[in-house]
Amino acid sequence: MFPRLSANPMLEERTGDKVVVPPPTGRPYPVITASRSQLAQTMHAHGLAGGRCFVVTDDNVAELYGAEIETSLTDGDFEVSMQIVQPGEAAKDLEIVSDLYRWAFAEGVDRSTPVVALGGGVIGDLTGFFAATVLRGVPLVHVPTTLVAQVDSSIGGKTGVNHVSGKNLIGSFYRPTFTLADTEMLGTLPDVEWRNGLSEVLKHALIRDAVFYEWLRSNWSDVTSRSSALVPELVSRAMSIKIDVVAQDEFEGGLRRILNFGHTFGHAIERIAGFGTIGHGAAVALGMRAACWLSADRGRSVPLTEVDAMLRDLTPSRLPRMPVDWLLQSMRRDKKRIGDTLHLILLESVGRAEIVTDATDSELRAALDFALS
Ligand SMILES: NC(=O)c1ccc[n+]([C@@H]2O[C@H](COP(=O)([O-])OP(=O)(O)OC[C@H]3O[C@@H](n4cnc5c(N)ncnc54)[C@H](O)[C@@H]3O)[C@@H](O)[C@H]2O)c1
Ligand SMILES: [Zn+2]
Repeated sequence: MFPRLSANPMLEERTGDKVVVPPPTGRPYPVITASRSQLAQTMHAHGLAGGRCFVVTDDNVAELYGAEIETSLTDGDFEVSMQIVQPGEAAKDLEIVSDLYRWAFAEGVDRSTPVVALGGGVIGDLTGFFAATVLRGVPLVHVPTTLVAQVDSSIGGKTGVNHVSGKNLIGSFYRPTFTLADTEMLGTLPDVEWRNGLSEVLKHALIRDAVFYEWLRSNWSDVTSRSSALVPELVSRAMSIKIDVVAQDEFEGGLRRILNFGHTFGHAIERIAGFGTIGHGAAVALGMRAACWLSADRGRSVPLTEVDAMLRDLTPSRLPRMPVDWLLQSMRRDKKRIGDTLHLILLESVGRAEIVTDATDSELRAALDFALS
């Protein structure tokens, strides 16, 4: 079990808490696993004094946790103003950011007003971008409530919204004051969202941590069924991997690119299937099936049958028609292309990723055929 937080200013040093120290300079920020009831006191411990405090969330999360968070912040001397947006990717929109600015100015935002992002990755990205830009930056606190958000999107500082030209094209890097993840909140997630998050968790293990991969493999049925005895450890281990990667490469100059494992294939699959037809996590799981196949085909030591069986559990049994030629074209256009070269993340072995730039069309085609089979 995780230690619960007390109002200890040395929070970062307690076992189970994590600190990100992005190079080459700058303020580290803690990623804390603790009960949501500790939010107000954790804010105080990080220099966010009582007074006006903004919370941005979505309808689903507000319904489940809004009142409780509001009460606990109020009890902690904060005067809460909450904005609730519609759930879903469509909220990552400049129009919604503009609504948030209007609300914040009407409510008297100043440079010291903390903004709490209470929700999944959509709320984290949207609120992060809003906090980064309103008055050129106000303190941001992430309270991630999905598995994706706890192990991935609330760590590493990427914020942003979508644009008609594409997903996540507008944004900034903006560090939160801290991230507080309460793993108990994952108990209310719909199963499809749990599995979406598991794709990113398995990705983290495959690219960076063979021991964690082995842990996942040996507990796989409890992991997929979300056994509450395993959730805290699963989140903590997956978080550590993201922390380790972004602490070494905050701005995606090199190492951070390995987090795109499965994503170059996956983004093409999402796009060609039609956004929303296949969830991001499922598309990435299909993408990882392709990437694992190609790694094995290149003679890398990847236990393909075993990994593939796990990945299949994270993908839908029926797929829409996706012509491989269209997928290939879409991959070649992927924004992760640098110059004319497609940078593809493959596995050298379980726990070790490699970036390859020489994948041929026939290799990509065969990998996609395998993943869609
Ligand atoms: N910034 C980054 O580094 C980064 C990394 C990965 C993904 N992302 C972004 O994250 C977004 C996806 O995030 P997501 O998968 O968390 O989706 P999401 O935020 O849309 O949440 C999924 C659904 O779960 C609901 N929900 C959230 N918490 C809940 C809870 N505890 N109980 C019940 N329901 C709950 C939400 O209302 C929503 O309907 C995408 O926009 C993606 O681009 C960003
Ligand atoms: Zn992803």
